Amino acid sequence: MPFAAVPPGAVIGILGSGQLGRMLAVGASRLGYRVHIFSPEAESPAAQVASASTVADYGDDEALDAFARGVDVATYEFENVPVAAVERLAALVPVRPGAGVLSITQDRLSEKDFIRGTGAVTAPYVAMSGPDDAGIAAREIGFPCVVKTRRLGYDGKGQRHLGRTGALGGSPDEALIRAWTELGGVPCIVEGFVDFVTEISVVLARGGDGAIAAYDVIQNEHRAGILHTSVVPARIPAAVADAAEAVARRIAGALDHVGVLAVEMFVTANGGVIVNEIAPRVHNSGHWTLDAATTDQFEQHIRAVCGLPLGGTSRLADAEMTNLIGEEIEGAARVLTEPNARLHLYGKTDARPGRKMGHVTRLFPKSS
Ligand SMILES: Nc1ncnc2c1ncn2[C@@H]1O[C@H](COP(=O)(O)OP(=O)(O)O)[C@@H](O)[C@H]1O
Ligand SMILES: [Mg+2]
Repeated sequence: MPFAAVPPGAVIGILGSGQLGRMLAVGASRLGYRVHIFSPEAESPAAQVASASTVADYGDDEALDAFARGVDVATYEFENVPVAAVERLAALVPVRPGAGVLSITQDRLSEKDFIRGTGAVTAPYVAMSGPDDAGIAAREIGFPCVVKTRRLGYDGKGQRHLGRTGALGGSPDEALIRAWTELGGVPCIVEGFVDFVTEISVVLARGGDGAIAAYDVIQNEHRAGILHTSVVPARIPAAVADAAEAVARRIAGALDHVGVLAVEMFVTANGGVIVNEIAPRVHNSGHWTLDAATTDQFEQHIRAVCGLPLGGTSRLADAEMTNLIGEEIEGAARVLTEPNARLHLYGKTDARPGRKMGHVTRLFPKSS
């Protein structure tokens, strides 16, 4: 059902305060909105650019209620916000995307079940709740495989990759149990390893009226589980790109999603598209849109959650986005001397290893 538009001048509440929240707040302010950030973090990239912020735990009901009363619509910038917090807010103010999408995507098992339900292909997977499931996982998935915690994983955290020789030095069951134990003995899934030729993502936005606007398919390279580089257009055959977009559109529709949605996929040697995971939010692989698309993904998300028309998604240039991770931030100023590069810094002071500190987008003449 289409909903009434939240007009510019209104206050948008954002749960979460990282760089995605920061760039959402900038996009919102460009459209004349004010932004209120809610997060447990005292010092945050998003609060630096927002007009208001609440520092409180997601379990703090009083703080959530006060926040809800001060905003006209709410959204979230990461999928590990507790569903209970979103449900509490949703009783007082519209939250888009809704709690349903959040609860599906924050558990890798329900997420993969859902993806399969739309007819899309995933890697084979089984649940591993404890040592008793190791036998089934070894038989049905085997090696190589990836053991992932069902919840709270990101940037490759909460994963163990077991190679073809994963079973060496013990039985297959023992190798899986060891991985599961190293991951904290929490509920996991065991997933078949996909021998992909490339990783891609589709970033799209879906409005409350069901309209979908997709960006060109993005090609992604991860290093140590963290996104390193995203390139558009993806160097894949047009038919594969079309298939990937169709899969993502189907998933967005099936979720009845409102806002930006990213679908991460593997492409195999025979051109097969295998869905890896869904992010019900703006996505790192979509950062190039800030510099090379008619409407960037952050503004697009704001438009969708506020019930404004979606903006154009045309690509204006070829682009390559590189993350600045940890100490890579130290050489960042050099980027300012590159005529075709744009530097984005997130206002983080502590350059811990693996921490996303900023990104660079390099622009090239449009090839296609
Ligand atoms: N089943 C798999 N087969 C091959 N590589 C995988 C598989 N699962 C994950 N990976 C690699 O690890 C990266 C991170 O895994 P992902 O499932 O996307 O979790 P995260 O939530 O940490 O992004 C992927 O982008 C991919 O490079
Ligand atoms: Mg991922």
